[in-house]
Amino acid sequence: MIVTEGLVKTFGKLVAVDGVSFTVNDGELFGFLGPNGAGKTTTINILTTLMRPTSGRALVGGYDVVSEAEKVRRIVGLVPQDITVDDDLTGWENLMLQAGLYHIPRSEARRRAAEVLELVGLSDAAGRRVETYSGGMRKRLELAAGLLHDPEILFLDEPTLGLDVQTRAAIWEYITRLRRELGMTVFLTTHYMDEADSLCERVAIIDRGKIRALGTPSDLKASLGGSIIDLEIVNGGSADVMSILGRVDAVRRVSLADGVYRLSVDNGEEGLPAILENLLRSGVRVSRVVMRKPTLDEVFLEYTGRKLRDETGSWEEAFRQRMIVRRMRT
Ligand SMILES: Nc1ncnc2c1ncn2[C@@H]1O[C@H](COP(=O)(O)OP(=O)(O)OP(=O)(O)O)[C@@H](O)[C@H]1O
Ligand SMILES: [Mg+2]
Repeated sequence: MIVTEGLVKTFGKLVAVDGVSFTVNDGELFGFLGPNGAGKTTTINILTTLMRPTSGRALVGGYDVVSEAEKVRRIVGLVPQDITVDDDLTGWENLMLQAGLYHIPRSEARRRAAEVLELVGLSDAAGRRVETYSGGMRKRLELAAGLLHDPEILFLDEPTLGLDVQTRAAIWEYITRLRRELGMTVFLTTHYMDEADSLCERVAIIDRGKIRALGTPSDLKASLGGSIIDLEIVNGGSADVMSILGRVDAVRRVSLADGVYRLSVDNGEEGLPAILENLLRSGVRVSRVVMRKPTLDEVFLEYTGRKLRDETGSWEEAFRQRMIVRRMRT
């Protein structure tokens, strides 16, 4: 449904999208994961024909996004990152406005609007002005608007950013329903690792315009080795703990942060005894051991050298600010 080959977008000297190639299959739920400024929205803008690529090629539903933009627009739905619904109108009126933009005939528009409102659980609130909606209801209305012209591929840019845990879960419920009941292809961006992990069939990790890793969440996690072991030691004496750990066969990588040695180990259950034995022999006493499976956060850290979670606070803050600015304007 989506094929990109060496997609590039520059803004002056800034390379926002830097040679991105990937494919998305029919009916797939594909996630684009990356920090602020990674190039996620720019990629979505190119794929939905809002922006032209500087170079490279992209096909959506088999149509070229530049030379066949009109055809692409007919089969894609977009729920943009910023809130776009109009506060002064009711939910229903917003959808009718949207239907007009897509030249959907009046009776057809009414039927579709009722359907999509039902799908996102807003039938009862359709007659109320959007001003009175909660953040989650607005997002659901945007989702409904993106679905109105019955797209084959839905693009969702940060569908759950700034929403509380319960509302996020509800939005996810609607998204998975779209896939299950309508077989729709969904391309979404998110910085919530847990979401990407449990819901996306495949994810691409994008950072500074480049795809750093691509695969199913479980394959990506497996690529880090089977287990993560955190060790705290009482007293290392003169022993070089890092190099002792590095010499153990099962250990792939060691890092030290805040007094905790973090080890990536191929098979934790089998590797741990050897690790402890080697430390003890060198006179290093271990005070605490925690063993677990890698998370998608750690996959991100591994492939980008950066943490994503650190930025979560500022993201939500930025989103809130945007909403406030919008309200002040109206
Ligand atoms: N119209 C534009 N003009 C100039 N620079 C832009 C423009 N749009 C995006 N950029 C820059 O391109 C880079 C990628 O931006 P983009 O919006 O694609 O990132 P993103 O991954 O969606 O980030 P976020 O998570 O904050 O939404 C950023 O450095 C951004 O400042
Ligand atoms: Mg963005």
